[in-house]
Amino acid sequence: MKNTLMNTPNHFDSIAEHFNRIWYFSDDYKDFVISHILNDLQFSPDDILADIGGGTGSFTARLQRDGAFKCAYCIEPSAPMCGEASKFSNITAICTDAHGFLEQNIPFTKMLLKEVIHHITDRETFWLNTYNSLPYEGKLLIITRPQQISFPLFDAAREAFAKNQPPHDMIENELLECGFNINTSHRSHTFALNKKSWYEMLQHRFMSDLGVFSSQEIDEGIKEIESRYDGEVIDIIDHLIFIKATK
Ligand SMILES: C[S@@+](CC[C@H](N)C(=O)[O-])C[C@H]1O[C@@H](n2cnc3c(N)ncnc32)[C@H](O)[C@@H]1O
Repeated sequence: MKNTLMNTPNHFDSIAEHFNRIWYFSDDYKDFVISHILNDLQFSPDDILADIGGGTGSFTARLQRDGAFKCAYCIEPSAPMCGEASKFSNITAICTDAHGFLEQNIPFTKMLLKEVIHHITDRETFWLNTYNSLPYEGKLLIITRPQQISFPLFDAAREAFAKNQPPHDMIENELLECGFNINTSHRSHTFALNKKSWYEMLQHRFMSDLGVFSSQEIDEGIKEIESRYDGEVIDIIDHLIFIKATK
C-alpha cells in the first residue's frame, strides 16, 4: 500500500474492518453492478483503472479479475479501508484522496467513481485535471443515486441523504462543460432483505449520511421504519445512476 496522505479520519475509518459485511446486499446485486461497469468501461488489455474512493477494494479486485486489463489502482483516503484493499494481490492500493491521486501524475486510461462523488470537493478542478490526464477516448464512470433515495430509510435519514447528494444533472453539466461526451443510464435492482440485516446495516451506519445520527436516533428511526413495513423481510429498490463520460 502506498501512503501519500496524512491520516485524516473519515466516517469509513471506524467501519473498515466490517465494511464488506455491513455494506452487502447479495451476490446477485454485486454481479449486476459489476456487469454494468464492465459493459460501460469496455476494458481492453492495455487499460489502467483508477478506482477513486475504492474503499476496501473488493470491486476493484473483481473488475481486475473479470476485465483482464493491465492494472488497477484502488485510491482510498481512509487508511483502515486502504489497509483492507492492500490485502488483494491483483490490485495496488494507494492511500490518498481524489485530488491527491491526480497530483501524483500516475497514468490511467479509465476511472471509476462508485458511490463517492458526494465526498469530492472542488469538482470543477477535479474534472478538469481528470480530463487533462485521460488519453483520447479515455472514460470515467460515475455511479451515484438520485437525491430522493428509494431505500427504506427513516425520514430524517432520507433528508440527510438528499442534502449530501449532488443532483445528477449538475454533475452531467459540469462534465459537458469540461469537454466530455456523456451518456447516462438509470438502472434499478430490486430485492428483498431480511429486516434484521437491514436494521443492522443502519445501526452500523453503513452509509456516511447516517454518521450524524446518535445510536438513540437510529433506534428511533428503525421503529419508524418498522411501523411502515409489515413482515420479516423488506423490499429494497436501488435506483442507480450510471454517468459515463468519454474524452
Ligand atoms: C460508500 S464508500 C464506496 C466504496 C467503494 N467505491 C464501493 O462502492 O464499494 C465511499 C468511499 O469514498 C471514500 N472517500 C471519501 N472522501 C473521498 C475523497 N475525497 N476522495 C476519494 N475517496 C473518498 C471513503 O473513504 C469511502 O471508502
